[in-house]
Amino acid sequence: MRAVVFPENFLWGAATSAYQIEGGWNADGRSPSIWDTFSHTPGKTHNGETGDVACDHYHRWADDVALMRALGLQAYRFSVSWPRILPEGYGRINQPGLDFYGRLVDALLDAGIVPMPTLYHWELPQTLQDAGGWPARATVPAFVELADVVSRALGDRVTHWITHNEPWCTSLLSHQIGVHAPGWQDWPAALAAAHHVLLSHGLAAAQIRANVAKAEVGIAINFEPATPATDSPADYHAARIWDGYFFRWFVDPLMGRLYPADMVDYYTRSGRLPRGLDFVQEGDMATIAAPLDFFGVNYYTRFIARAGEDLDHLQSASNPGAEYTAMGWEVHPDTFYRLLNRLHFEYRMPKIFVTENGCSYPDGPDENGRIADQRRINYLDAHIRAMHRAMQNGAPVAGYLQWSLLDNYEWAQGYSQRFGMVYVDYATLERTPKASALWYRDLIARNGLPATAEIGA
Ligand code: FCB
Repeated sequence: MRAVVFPENFLWGAATSAYQIEGGWNADGRSPSIWDTFSHTPGKTHNGETGDVACDHYHRWADDVALMRALGLQAYRFSVSWPRILPEGYGRINQPGLDFYGRLVDALLDAGIVPMPTLYHWELPQTLQDAGGWPARATVPAFVELADVVSRALGDRVTHWITHNEPWCTSLLSHQIGVHAPGWQDWPAALAAAHHVLLSHGLAAAQIRANVAKAEVGIAINFEPATPATDSPADYHAARIWDGYFFRWFVDPLMGRLYPADMVDYYTRSGRLPRGLDFVQEGDMATIAAPLDFFGVNYYTRFIARAGEDLDHLQSASNPGAEYTAMGWEVHPDTFYRLLNRLHFEYRMPKIFVTENGCSYPDGPDENGRIADQRRINYLDAHIRAMHRAMQNGAPVAGYLQWSLLDNYEWAQGYSQRFGMVYVDYATLERTPKASALWYRDLIARNGLPATAEIGA
């Protein structure tokens, strides 16, 4: 393989989210979010683990920014904790909570790191959940208020804004499959939640642009592109349904193509939408389709679709001989390449940031305290090369944010999954860069990758 070099102003960084790293769950006036409630409910998370302490980033943020600077990161994607800022969900501002993010942004800018806040990475205030949560339309104006408060406070310093992280997770994973907070299993509620998340994105984007003259606004979508298990027409059909459920239901409305008609029909005929799209009101689809400055792409793995299973029980077929990460996710960089091509050629995305890409492996310190996570290096190397190939075809990728800076709280999986380029010892909270962090530092310094033969040399 040849050496690859990236465009001069390409941004290299890392991503995290508030609940997964901050801890300080009740510090300085923060109220509970749905993840506090969920993680404290017996049986919902691995070993009953919670984000009460997590990486204690709420208190160690200055050290973490120093670490980012030492690694040469150029951008940092973090999320704001809604209940830290608006403990009742709307109305009263909790100034200490808001000030935390102001200090973080100042420190990042001082370190030469572009801050990229995400407004919603799954921390709905419990008060709003009690009033109906995302399936209720009333959550939409509350989110726009959050966008208003945060963009007024940080808009003089922050240009890159991400409204939502992974609407599929907020809606379907959380309200249909039910393995994430609030843990519902209710199709009509899940699809109403999806609509309200998309609508709140469009309205928040307008609010941010009103407050911040030079704002660049985007949304981060997660992709698990489907491939049919065999060449049979039935497997192709299964892959197409998965594509509608996971990909087109979100990307199409955002790009002005409305909800995909085949899926509206499928959901209606199968009884999942007994009242059709009754949650859509006049003007909503135009609001959702407001032009984006950039599109955020979160990619980890692909989905192998097989006929004969319905959407409630779909599981990716296994690919014997393939490599899988500790999450049980197949390593498949070529799907990442094809995904970026599709977004470019089929949707003509204006600009793309890879807002998450990474892998979980359990590697810990060896007898010398060194963490040799070679499998992560291999994963990143292959995916970054795949991204570069797509860019050669014209895919307008402007930056890459690795998930994640630190090992952290992996939602329902608790602390059992280590996605960080930096190891966290949860007993002492000490951080140690893994081999992959040093590899990433070198990649950033040379803005590219050497020919394969040099790697690890
Ligand atoms: C994504 C989430 C992120 C993290 C990674 C592994 O779906 O956005 O918070 O959990 O997966």
